[in-house]
Amino acid sequence: MTANESTAFRAAIDVIAKVDPAIAQAIVGELGNQRSQLKLIASENYASPAVMLAMGNWFSDKYAEGTTGHRFYAGCEFVDVVEARAAQLACDLFGSPHAYVQPHSGIDANLVGFWAILAREVELPTIERLGVRHINDLSGSDWEKLRQELGNQRLLGMSLDAGGHLTHGFRPNISGKMFNQRSYGTDPETELLDYDAVRRQALEFRPLIIVAGYSAYPRRINFAKMREIADEAGAVLMVDMAHFAGLVAGKAFTGDFDPIPHAQVVTSTTHKSLRGPRGGIVLCQPEYAEFVDKGCPMVLGGPLAHMMAAKAVAFSEALQPSFKDYAAAVAANAVALAEGLLRRGVRLVTGGTDNHLVLVDTETKFGLTGRQAETALLDSGVVTNRNAIPRDPNGAWYTSGVRLGTPALTTLGMGAAEMDEVADIIVTALSAATPTQASTGPSKAKFTMTAGVADALRTRCGDLLARHPLYPTIDLA
Ligand SMILES: Cc1ncc(COP(=O)(O)O)c(C=O)c1O
Repeated sequence: MTANESTAFRAAIDVIAKVDPAIAQAIVGELGNQRSQLKLIASENYASPAVMLAMGNWFSDKYAEGTTGHRFYAGCEFVDVVEARAAQLACDLFGSPHAYVQPHSGIDANLVGFWAILAREVELPTIERLGVRHINDLSGSDWEKLRQELGNQRLLGMSLDAGGHLTHGFRPNISGKMFNQRSYGTDPETELLDYDAVRRQALEFRPLIIVAGYSAYPRRINFAKMREIADEAGAVLMVDMAHFAGLVAGKAFTGDFDPIPHAQVVTSTTHKSLRGPRGGIVLCQPEYAEFVDKGCPMVLGGPLAHMMAAKAVAFSEALQPSFKDYAAAVAANAVALAEGLLRRGVRLVTGGTDNHLVLVDTETKFGLTGRQAETALLDSGVVTNRNAIPRDPNGAWYTSGVRLGTPALTTLGMGAAEMDEVADIIVTALSAATPTQASTGPSKAKFTMTAGVADALRTRCGDLLARHPLYPTIDLA
Protein backbone atom coordinates (compact mmCIF):
# COMPACT_ATOMS: atom_id res chain seq x y z
CA MET A 1 0.00 0.00 0.00
CA THR A 2 2.71 2.42 1.09
CA ALA A 3 4.89 1.61 -1.89
CA ASN A 4 1.86 1.87 -4.17
CA GLU A 5 1.02 5.37 -3.04
CA SER A 6 4.56 6.65 -3.42
CA THR A 7 4.86 5.00 -6.82
CA ALA A 8 1.54 6.45 -8.01
CA PHE A 9 2.31 10.04 -7.05
CA ARG A 10 5.93 9.89 -8.19
CA ALA A 11 4.86 8.53 -11.56
CA ALA A 12 2.15 11.19 -11.90
CA ILE A 13 4.63 13.97 -11.17
CA ASP A 14 7.16 12.52 -13.63
CA VAL A 15 4.52 12.43 -16.37
CA ILE A 16 3.46 16.03 -15.67
CA ALA A 17 7.07 17.25 -15.46
CA LYS A 18 7.77 16.00 -18.98
CA VAL A 19 5.12 18.42 -20.30
CA ASP A 20 5.30 21.30 -17.85
CA PRO A 21 8.09 21.14 -15.26
CA ALA A 22 6.99 24.38 -13.59
CA ILE A 23 3.60 22.89 -12.75
CA ALA A 24 5.14 19.65 -11.52
CA GLN A 25 7.44 21.69 -9.30
CA ALA A 26 4.53 23.75 -7.96
CA ILE A 27 2.64 20.57 -7.05
CA VAL A 28 5.65 19.24 -5.17
CA GLY A 29 6.15 22.68 -3.58
CA GLU A 30 2.57 22.75 -2.32
CA LEU A 31 3.02 19.39 -0.62
CA GLY A 32 6.23 20.74 0.92
CA ASN A 33 4.38 23.80 2.27
CA GLN A 34 1.55 21.71 3.66
CA ARG A 35 4.07 19.41 5.34
CA SER A 36 5.90 22.27 7.00
CA GLN A 37 3.03 24.39 8.37
CA LEU A 38 0.44 23.80 11.06
CA LYS A 39 -2.82 24.03 9.13
CA LEU A 40 -5.50 25.70 11.23
CA ILE A 41 -7.65 27.02 8.40
CA ALA A 42 -11.10 25.85 9.47
CA SER A 43 -12.27 25.17 5.91
CA GLU A 44 -9.27 23.05 4.88
CA ASN A 45 -8.31 19.44 5.42
CA TYR A 46 -6.09 16.73 3.93
CA ALA A 47 -7.94 14.43 1.52
CA SER A 48 -6.67 10.85 1.33
CA PRO A 49 -4.44 9.53 -1.47
CA ALA A 50 -7.42 7.50 -2.76
CA VAL A 51 -9.56 10.65 -3.02
CA MET A 52 -6.70 12.49 -4.77
CA LEU A 53 -6.11 9.70 -7.28
CA ALA A 54 -9.81 9.31 -8.11
CA MET A 55 -9.82 12.89 -9.43
CA GLY A 56 -7.16 12.54 -12.09
CA ASN A 57 -8.53 10.33 -14.87
CA TRP A 58 -10.40 10.13 -18.18
CA PHE A 59 -13.81 10.84 -16.63
CA SER A 60 -12.59 14.42 -16.92
CA ASP A 61 -13.02 14.12 -20.71
CA LYS A 62 -16.61 12.92 -20.68
CA TYR A 63 -19.65 15.15 -21.13
CA ALA A 64 -22.77 13.88 -19.36
CA GLU A 65 -25.31 16.71 -19.05
CA GLY A 66 -28.45 15.61 -17.27
CA THR A 67 -28.43 13.16 -14.41
CA THR A 68 -28.18 9.40 -13.88
CA GLY A 69 -30.23 7.60 -16.56
CA HIS A 70 -31.34 10.89 -18.22
CA ARG A 71 -28.40 12.21 -20.20
CA PHE A 72 -28.21 14.56 -23.15
CA TYR A 73 -25.08 12.72 -24.37
CA ALA A 74 -24.46 9.14 -25.45
CA GLY A 75 -21.96 6.78 -23.88
CA CYS A 76 -22.53 7.76 -20.24
CA GLU A 77 -22.92 4.31 -18.70
CA PHE A 78 -19.84 4.62 -16.49
CA VAL A 79 -20.67 8.18 -15.50
CA ASP A 80 -24.05 6.78 -14.45
CA VAL A 81 -22.28 4.18 -12.29
CA VAL A 82 -20.23 6.92 -10.63
CA GLU A 83 -23.06 9.41 -10.11
CA ALA A 84 -25.53 6.80 -8.85
CA ARG A 85 -22.97 5.39 -6.43
CA ALA A 86 -21.89 8.79 -5.12
CA ALA A 87 -25.56 9.78 -4.59
CA GLN A 88 -26.41 6.51 -2.84
CA LEU A 89 -23.38 6.77 -0.56
CA ALA A 90 -24.29 10.38 0.29
CA CYS A 91 -27.82 9.24 1.19
CA ASP A 92 -26.42 6.42 3.35
CA LEU A 93 -23.89 8.66 5.02
CA PHE A 94 -26.29 11.45 5.94
CA GLY A 95 -29.52 9.47 6.23
CA SER A 96 -31.00 11.68 3.52
CA PRO A 97 -33.87 10.64 1.23
CA HIS A 98 -32.20 12.26 -1.80
CA ALA A 99 -28.76 13.46 -2.84
CA TYR A 100 -27.50 15.43 -5.84
CA VAL A 101 -23.74 15.15 -6.19
CA GLN A 102 -22.98 17.32 -9.22
CA PRO A 103 -22.32 20.81 -7.77
CA HIS A 104 -18.75 21.83 -8.52
CA SER A 105 -18.36 23.78 -5.28
CA GLY A 106 -20.24 25.18 -2.29
CA ILE A 107 -21.38 28.29 -4.11
CA ASP A 108 -22.85 26.09 -6.85
CA ALA A 109 -24.58 23.87 -4.30
CA ASN A 110 -26.22 26.94 -2.77
CA LEU A 111 -27.33 28.20 -6.18
CA VAL A 112 -28.85 24.80 -6.97
CA GLY A 113 -30.60 24.86 -3.58
CA PHE A 114 -31.97 28.38 -4.07
CA TRP A 115 -33.17 27.72 -7.62
CA ALA A 116 -34.72 24.37 -6.68
CA ILE A 117 -36.75 26.18 -4.01
CA LEU A 118 -37.67 28.99 -6.43
CA ALA A 119 -38.67 26.44 -9.07
CA ARG A 120 -40.93 24.51 -6.67
CA GLU A 121 -42.37 27.43 -4.72
CA VAL A 122 -42.67 30.14 -7.40
CA GLU A 123 -42.37 28.63 -10.90
CA LEU A 124 -44.43 25.45 -10.40
CA PRO A 125 -47.56 27.20 -8.99
CA THR A 126 -47.51 29.58 -11.97
CA ILE A 127 -47.23 26.73 -14.45
CA GLU A 128 -50.05 24.85 -12.73
CA ARG A 129 -52.27 27.93 -12.49
CA LEU A 130 -51.83 28.71 -16.19
CA GLY A 131 -52.32 25.06 -17.19
CA VAL A 132 -49.13 24.70 -19.27
CA ARG A 133 -46.67 21.81 -19.22
CA HIS A 134 -43.40 23.70 -19.42
CA ILE A 135 -42.09 27.24 -19.02
CA ASN A 136 -41.41 27.27 -22.77
CA ASP A 137 -45.20 27.10 -23.26
CA LEU A 138 -45.81 30.40 -21.39
CA SER A 139 -46.73 33.49 -23.40
CA GLY A 140 -44.19 36.30 -23.54
CA SER A 141 -46.12 38.39 -21.03
CA ASP A 142 -46.73 35.49 -18.59
CA TRP A 143 -43.04 34.63 -18.77
CA GLU A 144 -42.13 38.24 -18.04
CA LYS A 145 -44.44 38.27 -15.00
CA LEU A 146 -42.90 35.03 -13.74
CA ARG A 147 -39.40 36.41 -14.21
CA GLN A 148 -40.33 39.46 -12.14
CA GLU A 149 -41.78 37.22 -9.46
CA LEU A 150 -38.70 34.99 -9.37
CA GLY A 151 -36.56 38.08 -8.93
CA ASN A 152 -38.71 39.52 -6.18
CA GLN A 153 -38.32 36.94 -3.41
CA ARG A 154 -36.99 37.36 0.11
CA LEU A 155 -34.21 35.55 1.90
CA LEU A 156 -33.19 35.66 5.57
CA GLY A 157 -29.65 34.55 6.38
CA MET A 158 -27.01 34.98 9.08
CA SER A 159 -25.09 38.26 8.95
CA LEU A 160 -21.50 38.17 7.78
CA ASP A 161 -20.05 39.53 10.99
CA ALA A 162 -21.93 36.91 13.03
CA GLY A 163 -20.27 34.23 10.88
CA GLY A 164 -22.63 33.90 7.88
CA HIS A 165 -21.38 33.37 4.32
CA LEU A 166 -21.38 35.67 1.27
CA THR A 167 -23.49 33.16 -0.66
CA HIS A 168 -26.35 33.65 1.83
CA GLY A 169 -27.72 36.74 0.09
CA PHE A 170 -24.92 39.32 0.25
CA ARG A 171 -24.54 41.90 -2.47
CA PRO A 172 -21.07 40.94 -3.79
CA ASN A 173 -22.44 37.43 -4.48
CA ILE A 174 -25.10 36.56 -7.07
CA SER A 175 -27.44 35.52 -4.21
CA GLY A 176 -27.54 39.15 -3.02
CA LYS A 177 -28.48 40.33 -6.49
CA MET A 178 -31.19 37.66 -6.78
CA PHE A 179 -32.91 38.12 -3.42
CA ASN A 180 -34.25 40.90 -1.26
CA GLN A 181 -32.12 39.86 1.73
CA ARG A 182 -32.10 40.64 5.41
CA SER A 183 -29.80 39.07 7.93
CA TYR A 184 -30.02 37.98 11.52
CA GLY A 185 -27.11 38.59 13.86
CA THR A 186 -26.14 37.29 17.26
CA ASP A 187 -26.85 38.59 20.76
CA PRO A 188 -24.52 41.56 21.50
CA GLU A 189 -23.73 40.26 25.00
CA THR A 190 -23.39 36.50 24.54
CA GLU A 191 -22.54 36.57 20.80
CA LEU A 192 -24.81 33.51 20.52
CA LEU A 193 -27.70 33.07 18.11
CA ASP A 194 -30.87 34.47 19.64
CA TYR A 195 -33.67 32.25 18.29
CA ASP A 196 -36.41 34.57 19.60
CA ALA A 197 -34.88 37.47 17.70
CA VAL A 198 -34.64 35.32 14.53
CA ARG A 199 -38.32 34.38 14.99
CA ARG A 200 -39.37 38.03 15.35
CA GLN A 201 -37.42 38.98 12.23
CA ALA A 202 -38.82 36.06 10.23
CA LEU A 203 -42.41 36.86 11.19
CA GLU A 204 -41.94 40.48 10.29
CA PHE A 205 -39.99 39.95 7.01
CA ARG A 206 -41.83 36.78 5.80
CA PRO A 207 -39.00 35.42 3.63
CA LEU A 208 -39.44 32.64 1.09
CA ILE A 209 -36.22 31.06 2.36
CA ILE A 210 -34.43 31.04 5.72
CA VAL A 211 -30.79 29.98 5.46
CA ALA A 212 -29.03 28.54 8.48
CA GLY A 213 -25.34 27.73 8.41
CA TYR A 214 -22.10 29.61 8.74
CA SER A 215 -18.43 29.77 8.03
CA ALA A 216 -17.26 31.47 11.22
CA TYR A 217 -19.78 30.87 14.04
CA PRO A 218 -18.13 28.70 16.69
CA ARG A 219 -21.32 27.05 17.93
CA ARG A 220 -23.85 24.41 16.95
CA ILE A 221 -27.20 25.54 15.58
CA ASN A 222 -30.46 24.06 16.79
CA PHE A 223 -32.04 23.15 13.45
CA ALA A 224 -35.28 21.91 15.05
CA LYS A 225 -35.81 25.44 16.35
CA MET A 226 -34.88 26.98 13.01
CA ARG A 227 -37.43 24.72 11.27
CA GLU A 228 -40.13 25.74 13.76
CA ILE A 229 -39.37 29.38 12.97
CA ALA A 230 -39.43 28.71 9.22
CA ASP A 231 -42.77 26.89 9.47
CA GLU A 232 -44.27 29.68 11.54
CA ALA A 233 -43.12 32.27 8.99
CA GLY A 234 -44.21 30.19 5.99
CA ALA A 235 -40.60 29.88 4.80
CA VAL A 236 -38.50 27.01 3.48
CA LEU A 237 -35.50 26.11 5.66
CA MET A 238 -32.25 25.64 3.75
CA VAL A 239 -29.17 24.66 5.74
CA ASP A 240 -25.68 25.23 4.37
CA MET A 241 -23.57 22.71 6.28
CA ALA A 242 -20.44 23.32 4.16
CA HIS A 243 -18.29 23.79 7.25
CA PHE A 244 -19.60 21.13 9.58
CA ALA A 245 -20.70 18.35 7.19
CA GLY A 246 -17.96 16.10 8.55
CA LEU A 247 -19.38 16.47 12.05
CA VAL A 248 -22.84 15.54 10.75
CA ALA A 249 -21.46 12.58 8.76
CA GLY A 250 -19.45 11.40 11.77
CA LYS A 251 -22.47 11.74 14.11
CA ALA A 252 -20.87 14.38 16.31
CA PHE A 253 -23.94 16.52 15.50
CA THR A 254 -27.13 14.54 16.12
CA GLY A 255 -30.76 15.20 17.08
CA ASP A 256 -31.68 18.88 16.90
CA PHE A 257 -28.14 19.68 15.68
CA ASP A 258 -28.33 17.38 12.64
CA PRO A 259 -29.83 19.45 9.80
CA ILE A 260 -30.95 16.54 7.60
CA PRO A 261 -34.26 15.66 9.34
CA HIS A 262 -35.16 19.32 9.90
CA ALA A 263 -34.36 21.26 6.72
CA GLN A 264 -36.15 20.81 3.40
CA VAL A 265 -32.88 21.45 1.55
CA VAL A 266 -29.31 20.98 2.84
CA THR A 267 -26.26 22.07 0.86
CA SER A 268 -22.62 21.35 1.55
CA THR A 269 -19.09 21.39 0.29
CA THR A 270 -17.27 18.07 0.27
CA HIS A 271 -13.75 19.33 0.98
CA LYS A 272 -13.84 20.89 4.44
CA SER A 273 -14.53 18.83 7.57
CA LEU A 274 -15.93 16.08 5.30
CA ARG A 275 -12.36 15.57 3.95
CA GLY A 276 -13.27 14.82 0.35
CA PRO A 277 -12.37 16.47 -2.96
CA ARG A 278 -13.27 20.06 -3.84
CA GLY A 279 -16.96 20.08 -4.61
CA GLY A 280 -20.54 20.41 -3.43
CA ILE A 281 -23.66 18.36 -2.82
CA VAL A 282 -27.33 19.05 -2.22
CA LEU A 283 -29.47 16.81 -0.01
CA CYS A 284 -33.21 17.29 0.15
CA GLN A 285 -36.61 16.02 1.10
CA PRO A 286 -38.37 14.04 -1.66
CA GLU A 287 -40.64 16.92 -2.71
CA TYR A 288 -37.60 18.97 -3.79
CA ALA A 289 -35.75 16.10 -5.53
CA GLU A 290 -36.94 16.65 -9.11
CA PHE A 291 -36.06 20.35 -8.88
CA VAL A 292 -32.65 19.79 -7.29
CA ASP A 293 -31.84 17.23 -10.01
CA LYS A 294 -32.23 19.96 -12.63
CA GLY A 295 -29.14 21.74 -11.24
CA CYS A 296 -27.63 20.95 -14.65
CA PRO A 297 -28.53 22.82 -16.84
CA MET A 298 -30.32 25.30 -14.51
CA VAL A 299 -27.16 26.48 -12.77
CA LEU A 300 -24.39 24.03 -13.62
CA GLY A 301 -22.61 22.99 -16.78
CA GLY A 302 -21.79 19.39 -17.53
CA PRO A 303 -21.09 17.31 -14.42
CA LEU A 304 -17.49 16.65 -13.44
CA ALA A 305 -17.55 12.86 -13.34
CA HIS A 306 -13.97 12.61 -12.07
CA MET A 307 -14.94 14.78 -9.09
CA MET A 308 -18.09 12.75 -8.46
CA ALA A 309 -15.86 9.65 -8.43
CA ALA A 310 -13.64 11.27 -5.80
CA LYS A 311 -16.73 12.29 -3.78
CA ALA A 312 -17.88 8.65 -3.80
CA VAL A 313 -14.46 7.55 -2.51
CA ALA A 314 -14.62 10.17 0.26
CA PHE A 315 -18.17 9.12 1.23
CA SER A 316 -16.99 5.49 1.42
CA GLU A 317 -14.22 6.62 3.76
CA ALA A 318 -16.64 8.64 5.88
CA LEU A 319 -18.89 5.59 6.21
CA GLN A 320 -16.07 3.71 7.97
CA PRO A 321 -16.45 3.51 11.77
CA SER A 322 -13.14 5.38 12.16
CA PHE A 323 -14.73 8.52 10.72
CA LYS A 324 -16.96 8.72 13.81
CA ASP A 325 -13.83 8.78 15.96
CA TYR A 326 -12.42 11.45 13.67
CA ALA A 327 -15.50 13.69 13.96
CA ALA A 328 -15.58 13.33 17.75
CA ALA A 329 -11.87 14.17 17.90
CA VAL A 330 -12.32 17.28 15.70
CA ALA A 331 -14.88 18.65 18.18
CA ALA A 332 -12.85 17.59 21.26
CA ASN A 333 -9.73 19.19 19.80
CA ALA A 334 -11.59 22.45 19.18
CA VAL A 335 -12.60 22.49 22.87
CA ALA A 336 -9.01 21.69 23.92
CA LEU A 337 -7.65 24.47 21.70
CA ALA A 338 -10.24 26.94 23.02
CA GLU A 339 -9.43 26.00 26.62
CA GLY A 340 -5.70 26.38 25.97
CA LEU A 341 -6.28 29.88 24.59
CA LEU A 342 -8.71 30.89 27.35
CA ARG A 343 -6.26 29.72 30.04
CA ARG A 344 -3.69 32.04 28.47
CA GLY A 345 -6.06 35.01 28.71
CA VAL A 346 -7.30 35.18 25.10
CA ARG A 347 -10.81 36.43 24.36
CA LEU A 348 -12.79 34.09 22.14
CA VAL A 349 -16.00 35.05 20.38
CA THR A 350 -18.90 33.42 22.33
CA GLY A 351 -16.36 32.42 25.01
CA GLY A 352 -15.57 29.04 23.44
CA THR A 353 -16.70 26.49 20.89
CA ASP A 354 -18.88 23.45 20.46
CA ASN A 355 -18.08 22.72 16.84
CA HIS A 356 -14.82 22.54 14.87
CA LEU A 357 -13.80 26.19 15.00
CA VAL A 358 -12.59 28.88 17.35
CA LEU A 359 -12.83 32.60 16.62
CA VAL A 360 -10.04 34.54 18.35
CA ASP A 361 -10.44 38.26 19.10
CA THR A 362 -6.91 39.50 18.31
CA GLU A 363 -7.60 43.13 19.25
CA THR A 364 -8.58 42.76 22.91
CA LYS A 365 -5.51 40.99 24.31
CA PHE A 366 -2.90 41.57 21.63
CA GLY A 367 -3.88 44.95 20.10
CA LEU A 368 -3.53 43.40 16.62
CA THR A 369 -5.80 43.45 13.62
CA GLY A 370 -6.69 40.08 12.17
CA ARG A 371 -4.45 40.87 9.25
CA GLN A 372 -1.41 41.43 11.49
CA ALA A 373 -2.21 38.33 13.52
CA GLU A 374 -2.60 36.18 10.39
CA THR A 375 0.84 37.26 9.11
CA ALA A 376 2.56 36.91 12.51
CA LEU A 377 1.18 33.38 12.75
CA LEU A 378 2.22 32.49 9.20
CA ASP A 379 5.76 33.74 9.91
CA SER A 380 5.71 31.43 12.95
CA GLY A 381 4.64 28.37 10.95
CA VAL A 382 0.87 28.46 11.58
CA VAL A 383 -1.55 28.97 8.66
CA THR A 384 -4.86 30.62 9.58
CA ASN A 385 -7.16 33.20 8.06
CA ARG A 386 -8.19 36.56 9.40
CA ASN A 387 -11.89 36.90 10.07
CA ALA A 388 -14.30 39.62 11.14
CA ILE A 389 -15.74 39.31 14.64
CA PRO A 390 -19.25 40.54 15.56
CA ARG A 391 -19.49 44.34 15.25
CA ASP A 392 -15.88 44.40 14.05
CA PRO A 393 -14.29 47.88 14.42
CA ASN A 394 -11.68 47.07 11.75
CA GLY A 395 -14.05 46.06 8.95
CA ALA A 396 -13.95 43.05 6.65
CA TRP A 397 -10.46 43.66 5.18
CA TYR A 398 -8.28 44.18 8.27
CA THR A 399 -10.70 42.55 10.77
CA SER A 400 -10.11 41.99 14.48
CA GLY A 401 -9.94 38.22 14.56
CA VAL A 402 -8.45 35.02 13.27
CA ARG A 403 -10.48 31.88 12.69
CA LEU A 404 -8.94 28.58 13.75
CA GLY A 405 -10.22 25.12 12.91
CA THR A 406 -9.19 21.63 13.98
CA PRO A 407 -10.23 19.35 11.04
CA ALA A 408 -6.77 19.25 9.42
CA LEU A 409 -4.61 18.76 12.52
CA THR A 410 -7.04 16.09 13.71
CA THR A 411 -6.53 14.25 10.41
CA LEU A 412 -2.82 14.20 11.29
CA GLY A 413 -3.72 12.41 14.53
CA MET A 414 -3.15 15.28 16.96
CA GLY A 415 -5.09 15.35 20.22
CA ALA A 416 -5.63 17.46 23.34
CA ALA A 417 -1.95 17.66 24.39
CA GLU A 418 -0.95 18.91 20.94
CA MET A 419 -3.82 21.45 21.00
CA ASP A 420 -2.38 22.91 24.19
CA GLU A 421 1.01 23.22 22.52
CA VAL A 422 -0.67 24.86 19.50
CA ALA A 423 -2.45 27.32 21.82
CA ASP A 424 0.89 28.20 23.40
CA ILE A 425 2.54 28.69 19.99
CA ILE A 426 -0.31 31.01 18.92
CA VAL A 427 -0.23 33.08 22.10
CA THR A 428 3.58 33.33 22.02
CA ALA A 429 3.50 34.52 18.39
CA LEU A 430 0.76 37.10 18.92
CA SER A 431 2.32 38.39 22.15
CA ALA A 432 5.59 39.00 20.29
CA ALA A 433 3.93 41.15 17.58
CA THR A 434 3.56 44.94 17.90
CA PRO A 435 1.80 47.17 15.35
CA THR A 436 4.10 49.67 13.64
CA GLN A 437 3.34 53.28 14.61
CA ALA A 438 2.45 55.52 11.68
CA SER A 439 1.81 59.29 11.87
CA THR A 440 -1.92 58.53 11.83
CA GLY A 441 -1.69 55.98 14.68
CA PRO A 442 -0.92 52.26 14.80
CA SER A 443 -0.76 50.57 11.41
CA LYS A 444 -3.46 48.00 10.64
CA ALA A 445 -1.16 45.94 8.41
CA LYS A 446 2.47 46.44 9.46
CA PHE A 447 4.00 45.13 12.64
CA THR A 448 7.31 44.08 14.12
CA MET A 449 8.08 40.87 15.95
CA THR A 450 10.49 40.32 18.83
CA ALA A 451 13.70 38.92 17.29
CA GLY A 452 14.02 35.15 17.23
CA VAL A 453 10.45 34.35 18.26
CA ALA A 454 9.15 33.35 14.81
CA ASP A 455 12.20 31.12 14.19
CA ALA A 456 11.79 29.39 17.55
CA LEU A 457 8.08 28.85 16.91
CA ARG A 458 8.70 27.39 13.48
CA THR A 459 10.98 24.85 15.15
CA ARG A 460 8.20 23.98 17.63
CA CYS A 461 5.71 23.58 14.75
CA GLY A 462 8.26 21.39 12.96
CA ASP A 463 8.57 19.17 16.04
CA LEU A 464 4.79 18.70 16.19
CA LEU A 465 4.64 17.90 12.48
CA ALA A 466 7.56 15.47 12.73
CA ARG A 467 5.55 13.53 15.31
CA HIS A 468 2.40 13.71 13.13
CA PRO A 469 3.62 13.72 9.53
CA LEU A 470 1.38 14.50 6.59
CA TYR A 471 0.99 11.59 4.14
CA PRO A 472 3.57 9.32 5.79
CA THR A 473 2.89 6.79 3.02
CA ILE A 474 4.01 9.16 0.29
CA ASP A 475 7.70 9.64 -0.39
CA LEU A 476 8.43 11.70 -3.51
CA ALA A 477 12.22 11.58 -3.14
C1 LIG B 1 -20.80 28.14 4.60
C2 LIG B 1 -20.15 28.12 3.25
N1 LIG B 1 -20.92 27.97 2.16
C3 LIG B 1 -20.39 27.97 0.93
C4 LIG B 1 -19.04 28.10 0.71
C5 LIG B 1 -18.51 28.14 -0.69
O1 LIG B 1 -17.79 27.03 -1.00
P1 LIG B 1 -16.87 26.97 -2.31
O2 LIG B 1 -15.65 27.74 -2.00
O3 LIG B 1 -16.63 25.51 -2.52
O4 LIG B 1 -17.68 27.56 -3.43
C6 LIG B 1 -18.20 28.22 1.81
C7 LIG B 1 -16.74 28.34 1.58
O5 LIG B 1 -16.02 29.08 2.11
C8 LIG B 1 -18.77 28.24 3.12
O6 LIG B 1 -18.00 28.41 4.19
